[in-house]
Amino acid sequence: MTHFLIREKFLNFFKKNNHVIVPSSSLIPSDKSVLLTTAGMQQFKPYYIGELDPISDFNSKNTTSIQKCFRTSDIDEVGDESHLTFFEMLGNFSFGGYFKKEAILLAYEFLNKELNLEIDYVTIFDPSKVASDDWRKNVPEDKESFEIWRNLGFEESRIKKEGIDNFWGPTGNEGPCGPTTEIYIKNKNNQSIEIWNIVFNEYFCDKNKILTPLKTNGVDTGMGLERLLMICQNKFNIFETDLFDSLLKILPTNLDQKIKRIISDHIKASVFLIADGVLPSNKEAGYILRRILRRAIVYEYIYKFEKNILNNLIYEVIKIYKEIYSELITKEQAILEEILKEKEKFYKTLDRGLKELKKRPEINSKIAFYLYETFGLPYEIIKELGGQKALNLNYDDFKKEFENHQEISRRGQEKKFGGHGLILDTKELKASSEEEIKKVIRLHTATHLLQQALREVLGNEVRQAGSDINPERTRFDFTFNRKLTQEEIKKVENIVNQKINEDLPVNFVEMKKEDAEKIGALSFFKEKYPPIVKVYFVGSKIENAWSKEFCGGPHVLKTGEIGKFVIQKEEGIGSGIRRIRAIVLP
Ligand code: ALA
Repeated sequence: MTHFLIREKFLNFFKKNNHVIVPSSSLIPSDKSVLLTTAGMQQFKPYYIGELDPISDFNSKNTTSIQKCFRTSDIDEVGDESHLTFFEMLGNFSFGGYFKKEAILLAYEFLNKELNLEIDYVTIFDPSKVASDDWRKNVPEDKESFEIWRNLGFEESRIKKEGIDNFWGPTGNEGPCGPTTEIYIKNKNNQSIEIWNIVFNEYFCDKNKILTPLKTNGVDTGMGLERLLMICQNKFNIFETDLFDSLLKILPTNLDQKIKRIISDHIKASVFLIADGVLPSNKEAGYILRRILRRAIVYEYIYKFEKNILNNLIYEVIKIYKEIYSELITKEQAILEEILKEKEKFYKTLDRGLKELKKRPEINSKIAFYLYETFGLPYEIIKELGGQKALNLNYDDFKKEFENHQEISRRGQEKKFGGHGLILDTKELKASSEEEIKKVIRLHTATHLLQQALREVLGNEVRQAGSDINPERTRFDFTFNRKLTQEEIKKVENIVNQKINEDLPVNFVEMKKEDAEKIGALSFFKEKYPPIVKVYFVGSKIENAWSKEFCGGPHVLKTGEIGKFVIQKEEGIGSGIRRIRAIVLP
């Protein structure tokens, strides 16, 4: 059964059952609170909450689609049997047309009758499995779904009760959400994998995680196409299906299996992201694209692929999907050009990263993580090229380093990224995973120290004129009317490092704007501040704090967390404005 046939069967089944087929929406969602499309329901959000009327738009309360999706949450899992960044989701949706009984019966019938598949077990929502302080604690147990599965002949042992894993949504800051029932099927390895998630949108969740019942109950389902294919095509993993096998064959035969899978996934995802208008950059979706693209390029570089391999992968992705997604044909040229441009840019950083790797006498997990974070070198490459120096490096410690970075500052301004992974996205700070957020927070505090150090060395005419921080570096613009001397730059750098060595606490207080100005807290003239502001200060008391700034955070708890501060560049960017670019090392 080819992927074309499964697509057709799915859409036709739901069409036959009174659903209107709706094309996939773009990977760039219209809902601006999420970076990328992570689920089929996103394009239908306004219909669940009564903002738009499905009858006037679709002439039906029920729709079905096969949606292009991208999730960063599974990025570290890519390479195993069943995880991807880019995937497609088969879904059926109802905005008041039907509810639990019909939704479960339809799913059951499709799997059982149309595809002849046997369900291993299902799960339902049970609040007793939810932590007492969780916002989903008061959602009642889904007894109705339990009964429906019982009536379909499922013994109790095949209806497992779960906590928050069986509650879905909202995507972004707010939106529809509700309890779910999930369907598990055994794969060729005899392991059960989640195949279909059926969400009952009964609530609206607001920004403060307060749930209110929706006027109309909705249904939102999602089944991973690649996983379904793996089962229908009787394969051990998704990479053996017809959405991947021809891609893997293009790669050198002796290349590690896992690396082949990562490259195939990342190139495919990059092709689709670029086709939908995302370009590599240091911000938001562009940054995600840059990371996955660079991960593929690093392997090409290190293993010295033949010249055309990446291009052949791109052509093959287009070939597999072009009948379904015509944008791949119209954007072919742009896709090739963008990937080539990024490759040329990245080769330069890569050289530096490899030099850094050579320079280090020993490579422990901290340094490995730094090389990964700053230069984009993947773990396997570091381990391999590190040789003797990386003898004691192991994946568990590297992963731990990762997890330490996930322990984001309790003051972290986190936003859920479509319910899947974190992003930090303020005017000044940009990051899209836990480890990046941690890095950006270190750079953010370092930037406060930098401003104060500049004032000590150059005088109080120095004021912030702009700032931009991403996981690689901080960029700080300030008022000053001449080039800094080498000694001045060194002095500034030393002061910052001294404050880091002192391991000073970083705290904030909220106060009236006038009071904050009175105590000399620095503000940014371009910004409009509310009457009550947060002032972050470095030192044990605000009265004698070394640095005080109007700021929303987040920051490290102690300056020692920042690591070593290095100024890389100082330059003029306009009359009376200078720019400093700096990084932090572990
Ligand atoms: N929206 C649900 C999911 O993504 C179906 O799993």
